[in-house]
Amino acid sequence: MKTPARTTVTAALPYANGPLHIGHIAGAYLPADIYVRSMRARGREVLFICGSDEHGAAITLRALKEGTTPQAIVDKYHAIIAKAFADLGIAFDIYHRTSSELHRQTSQDFFLQLHANGAFTEQTEEQYYDTQAKQFLADRYITGTCPKCGNPGAYGDQCEKCGSALSPKELIDPKSTLTGTTPELRPTRHWYLPMERSQEWMTQWINTGLLDGAPQHDPAEWKPQVLGQCNSWLKEGLRPRAMTRDLDWGVPVPLPGADGKVLYVWLDAPIGYISATKQWAADHGTDWEKWWKADDTRLLHFIGKDNIVFHAIIFPILLKQHGGFILPQNVPANEFLNLEGQKLSTSRNWAVWAHEYLERWPGRQDELRYALATILPEFRDSEFTWKDFQDKNNNELVAIVGNFVQRVFVLCNKYYDGKVPEPAPPNAQQDVQDTLLWAELAGLPAKVAADIDKFRFRDALLHAMNVGRLGNKYLTDTEPWKLEKSDPDRVRTVLFNGLRITAALAVVLEPFMPFTAEKIRRMLNVGPLKWADALREGLIVPGAVIGKPEHLFKPIGDAEIAAEVERLKAHAPTGAAEAAGSAEPVAGTKPLIQFDDFAKLDLRVGTIREAEKVPKADKLLKLSIDIGEERPRTVLSGIAQHFTPEELPGRQVVLVTNLVPRKMRGVESQGMVLMAEDAGGRLRFVQPTEAMPPGSEVR
Ligand code: 2FM
Ligand code: ZN
Repeated sequence: MKTPARTTVTAALPYANGPLHIGHIAGAYLPADIYVRSMRARGREVLFICGSDEHGAAITLRALKEGTTPQAIVDKYHAIIAKAFADLGIAFDIYHRTSSELHRQTSQDFFLQLHANGAFTEQTEEQYYDTQAKQFLADRYITGTCPKCGNPGAYGDQCEKCGSALSPKELIDPKSTLTGTTPELRPTRHWYLPMERSQEWMTQWINTGLLDGAPQHDPAEWKPQVLGQCNSWLKEGLRPRAMTRDLDWGVPVPLPGADGKVLYVWLDAPIGYISATKQWAADHGTDWEKWWKADDTRLLHFIGKDNIVFHAIIFPILLKQHGGFILPQNVPANEFLNLEGQKLSTSRNWAVWAHEYLERWPGRQDELRYALATILPEFRDSEFTWKDFQDKNNNELVAIVGNFVQRVFVLCNKYYDGKVPEPAPPNAQQDVQDTLLWAELAGLPAKVAADIDKFRFRDALLHAMNVGRLGNKYLTDTEPWKLEKSDPDRVRTVLFNGLRITAALAVVLEPFMPFTAEKIRRMLNVGPLKWADALREGLIVPGAVIGKPEHLFKPIGDAEIAAEVERLKAHAPTGAAEAAGSAEPVAGTKPLIQFDDFAKLDLRVGTIREAEKVPKADKLLKLSIDIGEERPRTVLSGIAQHFTPEELPGRQVVLVTNLVPRKMRGVESQGMVLMAEDAGGRLRFVQPTEAMPPGSEVR
């Protein structure tokens, strides 16, 4: 492996079909931004590329839903997304768009080169067609049950639940998302990428890092879940994948006789990284090619786990087949972030939207960046809760960073009229504390950087915060406010050291909290800092003027957090909010009732005899439950996302048998099954510990 001279960092191009939520930020953009900022601080040459992904069914379906054109959709959301990124301090060198002319040209040229290289096969194959909408159905135009994990809402290109890449014909019980009808198969001609031809080199490249016999990357540096997903694909055997689509929105296929066909969005989107680089280079009058072609350039793709195969398998195949391009050296994908016990969901509006957060918490970007950085789903899914956001703010940002910096600046302003004090000459006895302090601090910046290099941002942040912790401890141990009269020399030294620690904090926190770092620099009256400045002697100069103490962070009260949780629930459909529970503890909050109230319930043990799905209701199962009566009861239960119909017959449940019958989806439900639900929204049956005859009373 060549020592990299420069690094090209890409972050997944978000679809311009909706705003960004915290799951997107924690998945790809915040880690990429932390990485890039730390590289820049260390003087490394790095280019940070992103842009809006403006093609594909994600866009056209959104346009249909909003009753407008795809162009109007991408214009609207590109602006919202670009602003949210800028406001959050995600410091791309360029945020481009795939609807641009430069991108059309770049991706058509790329396609033509692949075509000329014989990288495609042209095939007429049967694909699903919606006779009502008069349209072929690919990708998100078709939905069905995932053959891998049973998720009933998988798309034709991918299951968002298990992250598997799919093709429409693999879906069980496929339906058109346009009309809900069952599509029929019809022949259509397309250009396919015969990925099976790459099986061998790809298997070797992923697992050994060898490319054409030379070491290209170290697989030990790849995350296990990325290797795992790639290998499960490779194990199943790479197969041909269509690279074109029958659609009227996208980059037109630049070949004769291809009218009405466009490039597959997953072909054109990653080429978007290249067209964005070209645009950036044109804007800066410089060369783009070295960022993609020089063998001393390192290419890194920051993505969420649902994008792994596209970046670690399909795009590398395309780059290699095209020729002349380097391949990614790592694909540091994150897992998913959950919110208050549930999956983030755009359709159920179960999300904290970045642009809304920025409006409701003005000037508090770093509070969100910090809270997310501490819970990045680096190796497994993780969870954001508003309570944790509050705790992190109050107990860490306010109590550690804010408190330390505030104390140093208040005392320097009070004792030295806002000037850096002159430290006293060393004094052996007192300096033991200082020697220990510097010994502990000395290794921290390098530890932060080393963990960032390993994509372990959570650990890196812990080390960075330890600078603040040590600073606080130093002040608490030395108590300069008690010594001003008795030992002014010591106080000058302690506060001089305090200012040096403050400068170190500004450096090591900058990748995570750039706005705070800037505030600290302003207070210290120093310009931009490099990593090597963290503990550099001579940076803080005795006699230099410093600023007034500013509160870096404000405590967040319970009412503000309760309002956020309420807001989340109020904006989500009832099901989502109920399943998520409440900020208030649910247990013990209902008013007391008399025994007679309870006795009104007729509760019986029942045995499920049959279970089936209810058409067009993805949450409901229709159960047939034997409660010892002549005929089993029919009960509709909202458990379809927790159990498959096959696993239910034979299970015992507790049924409320005397609820007034209710008609749903044309079926009369004659009772209610009791379920237990945990804080994460997981449902389980309440059932007797041993089998009981159906109809046994529960009391
Ligand atoms: O999953 C997504 O949001 C895609 N728009 C990511 C594309 S990444 C790249 F290839 F452009
Ligand atoms: Zn799945």
